[in-house]
Amino acid sequence: MLMKFVNLRKVKATMNREKRYKVLMVCLGNICRSPAAQGVLERLIAARGLSDKIEVDSAGTYGGHSGQLPDSRMRNHAGRRGYTLTHRARQVKAWDFDDFDLIVGMDDGNIRDLQRLAPSAAARGKVVMMGRYIRNNRYYDYVPDPYYEGSEGFELVLDLLEDACANLLDEIEGGMWQ
Ligand code: 4NP
Repeated sequence: MLMKFVNLRKVKATMNREKRYKVLMVCLGNICRSPAAQGVLERLIAARGLSDKIEVDSAGTYGGHSGQLPDSRMRNHAGRRGYTLTHRARQVKAWDFDDFDLIVGMDDGNIRDLQRLAPSAAARGKVVMMGRYIRNNRYYDYVPDPYYEGSEGFELVLDLLEDACANLLDEIEGGMWQ
């Protein structure tokens, strides 16, 4: 009986290794911060040779921009840093909590909305704040909404995301998030 239990656990562990680890970036509209976070993390994943192990998507808690490309201002600012953002906006759904291993919100409002949408305690446990990984900016423990800001707001978001995504990926690689 005990042997059977141990073998099943091994099979499960093997299956988990074969499956790609899935990260969902979430902001309000899915046209500024989260598609940028997706682009930043995807480039880091590729640079570390992890593209066959980790997958990234993004979504918004508000569905009003569904189907749209990222905001042209974000595409321009990200483009200057070499990121081509081609994601089409979509709203986060309850089943995303089954599909993804880690769900990363950009600010407190995103975290509140995600906690409300999460269908179970296990699902709530997958939600984490991007601000937790910001190390290089002592004034921000969240990624601020740039939508009503000027150029400097978009540059700030990209600075924060480049810092935080590198630290987040360190933790994923280190097995912190299973
Ligand atoms: P995001 O920015 O959440 O970073 O995509 C926003 C995009 C759209 C709106 C607000 C924030 N909006 O009010 O439509």
